[in-house]
Amino acid sequence: MEKINILILGSGGREHTFCWKLAQSQLTNQLFIAPGNGGTKDLATNINIGVNDFESIKKTVLENQIKLVIVGPEDPLVNGLHDFFLSDQALRAIPVIGPQKLGATLEGSKEFAKAFMIRHDIPTAQYGSFTAENIDKGYAFLDQMKSPYVLKADGLAAGKGVLIIDDLKEAKTELANMLLNKKFGVASSKVVIEEFLKGIELSCFVLTDGKSYLTLPMAKDYKRIGEGDKGPNTGGMGAISPVPFMDDKFNQKIHDRIVRPTIEGLHKDNIPYVGFVFIGLIKVGEEPYVIEYNVRMGDPETQVVLPRVKNDLGELLLATAEGRLSQIEIEIDDRSYTTIVAVSGGYPEGYQKGKEITGLEKVKGCNVFHAGTTVREKKTFTIGGRVLAVTSYGEGHKSALKQSYEQIQKINFDGMYFRGDIGFDL
Ligand code: AMP
Ligand code: GLY
Repeated sequence: MEKINILILGSGGREHTFCWKLAQSQLTNQLFIAPGNGGTKDLATNINIGVNDFESIKKTVLENQIKLVIVGPEDPLVNGLHDFFLSDQALRAIPVIGPQKLGATLEGSKEFAKAFMIRHDIPTAQYGSFTAENIDKGYAFLDQMKSPYVLKADGLAAGKGVLIIDDLKEAKTELANMLLNKKFGVASSKVVIEEFLKGIELSCFVLTDGKSYLTLPMAKDYKRIGEGDKGPNTGGMGAISPVPFMDDKFNQKIHDRIVRPTIEGLHKDNIPYVGFVFIGLIKVGEEPYVIEYNVRMGDPETQVVLPRVKNDLGELLLATAEGRLSQIEIEIDDRSYTTIVAVSGGYPEGYQKGKEITGLEKVKGCNVFHAGTTVREKKTFTIGGRVLAVTSYGEGHKSALKQSYEQIQKINFDGMYFRGDIGFDL
C-alpha cells in the first residue's frame, strides 16, 4: 500500500487521539496537524494555522502533498471547508473526512436536525421552532408544555445554547432574551423549544461514506463540571466505553430506529455525507431518543472510542473517502476504556493559563491525551480550559477507572481540577 501524508485539523484531546491512532497506521507517511497541541508535536508536525483559515489550509495541503484531511471540530464543516475543497481545482481530488455544509447543518441548525428526524420517523422530543416574528406563538407553545422547559438556540453557540428552565415565567423571559435580545447572537435568532426527556444520556458514533456505514463503540460522557453531575456544562469531564447499561435489545433498538434511518435519511434527502455522525441519545425507560446530532467525533468520547477500534484507522478513513466501507469489517476491543479530563481551575468560566505541568513522565500504563497544552523549552504549560485526558483500560470500567485515577494523581499544575466520580452513576 502506498503511504500518504495526512492532515488533521483541530487542537483538542480528540485530535491528539486521532494523531496517536493514525501514527500506528500502515498508510501514514507523514502526519500534520493544524494547529495541534503540546502532545501532538511528538507524533506529528504542528502547523500554526486556524481551522477556519481555508486559504492557509490550502497552502499547507499543497505544500506538504497531503492526500487525506480529517476535520476534528464542527466549525470548519459548518463554514463549508469540504465544499471549499470540492470547488477548488487543486484540492478537488483530496478527500476530506467530514460532511459538506449541507450535511453539517445537522449540527449547525437544531431546527434542520429536528425536521430531519421527524421526516424520517426517528424518535426525538416533540418541538416547536420560533423566531422574533412569531414569538407570541412561542409563548403559547410554552403555555401548553410541562416544566421543565428546554430552549435551544438554533445555531452553533459553543455548547452554551441550551437552557433548561423550571419556571414558566422565566422560560418566557429567556425566550425573549434569545429571540429579541440576541442572547446567543445570530445563533438564537431562531429558537427550538422541546419537550423535556428524562433519562440517562449516551453517545453513539457512526462512520459513513454516504451509503454504507460502520457503528463504532458507544460511550457515555460526563458533561457537568461538578461531582454528582452538578454545576455548569463543560465540553466533557470524562468518558466511559462500553456503556455498562447497554444490552443487546437496547442496542438493536438504537440501530433499527435511529442509526439506520439516519443514514438512509441522508441518502433519501440527497445529503452527501462522508465522515462521522455522533448521535447524542437519551434512554427514557427502555426507549432511545435522539437529543442531537453532531457531525464529528465527541471530545472526550474519542479518547475512549478510538482506542477500542482495532482496525487500521488510516485504511478505515481512506475506505470511507473512497466509498468502500461496505467491504470493511469493524473489529472492537471488548475491554473497558475510561478517560478522566483534567481542567484549569475556574473552567468553564474564566481560568488562568501558562501553568507548568509536571509529573507527565511518571505516568505509566495509560495514555495521556493533551488538549490545552503547549511546550516551550522542553517544559509543558497549560493554555486551555480542558488541559489533558488520561485514558486507561481494564476488564471492567471499575478497574479502568482505578488505573486512570491512580495515574492522574501523578500529574500536577497550579489549579488543576478533575472530577473524582466519573462512573458514579453506573
Ligand atoms: P444539546 O446541545 O442539544 O445536546 O443539549 C445539551 C444538553 O441539554 C444535552 O446533553 C442534555 O443534557 C440536555 N438536553 C437537551 N435536550 C433535552 C431534552 N429534550 N430533554 C432533556 N434534556 C435535554
Ligand atoms: N462530549 C460531547 C461533545 O463532544 O460534544
